[in-house]
Amino acid sequence: MSDSEMPERYAVMGNPVGHSKSPTIHRMFACQFKDSIDYTAIQVEPGGFAQAVDRFRATGGRGLNVTVPFKLEAYRLAELHTDLAEKAQAANTLRFNRDGKIEAHNTDGLGLVRDLARLLGVDWRDPVGRCPQRAFQGKSVLILGAGGAVRGVLAPLLECAPDSVVIANRTVARAKELERLFGNPPISACGLHDLAGQGFDIVINGTSASLQGEVPLLPQGIFSAGALAYDMMYGDRPTPFMEWARQNGAACVSDGLGMLVEQAAESYYFWRGMRPDTAVVMNALRDRN
Ligand code: ATR
Repeated sequence: MSDSEMPERYAVMGNPVGHSKSPTIHRMFACQFKDSIDYTAIQVEPGGFAQAVDRFRATGGRGLNVTVPFKLEAYRLAELHTDLAEKAQAANTLRFNRDGKIEAHNTDGLGLVRDLARLLGVDWRDPVGRCPQRAFQGKSVLILGAGGAVRGVLAPLLECAPDSVVIANRTVARAKELERLFGNPPISACGLHDLAGQGFDIVINGTSASLQGEVPLLPQGIFSAGALAYDMMYGDRPTPFMEWARQNGAACVSDGLGMLVEQAAESYYFWRGMRPDTAVVMNALRDRN
């Protein structure tokens, strides 16, 4: 096989990465276009990220997805950054440009807001690689957590123009730091117990509590009538947050599988300039569980 006939190589790097659905998702995308790509999962040891990227690139790699714990390092390694990577100061997607430069992008927030808009049935104009403009006008949003995952999605969330965004975190200082960075109304920050007496239209769990089988300690009454509860995590079973939300008045509850597929589609578009059909991939993944 000549070089031009070889499938172009992509991969997801992280630790752990064995459970990742990204290879399956990207292979399904490639099938839609009869696109010839080879997508693998590469486990990288702490301290070995830059070297692993170099090696991948030297052996013909064209682009990478990056997951925990290397998103900050991926951002720093790149010479060029998209606006969304810049705002998140973290990257989940790298592209090796023809001029030899590494370009960083962050598609996590786009993935989240597209999936939220789908669940809310919001009609929006859909320019590729952009946020669903003004999709959340009139909505109040609560986002739980103030770590890297939340920071990565705040800019696209704000572009959807919700009426308000409250960031609530167990450690209040971290939420305040995000308020300062992303600044000004409609964002405000508080502790989890300060949420008593407030109701929201969209409640997003961006904490890692589900990983430990826990739910953040939340007061009752945080769901307004018709509220959507969304866990950025996903698994084969509903997360503890999803169970809690169901028992505490959320009208609609979702895990983050749709976000995963949507962020992957944005990465695919960034690398290949083609926009996959995400609905069929989401349905296929749900059917497998
Ligand atoms: P990530 O990159 O996944 O965001 P992180 O930066 O370690 O990881 O952030 C984890 C987030 O989940 C933090 O907001 C953390 O709260 P603290 O800042 O107070 O540590 C939150 N978190 C983790 N476990 C939690 C739990 N059991 N209850 C509430 N919040 C939790």
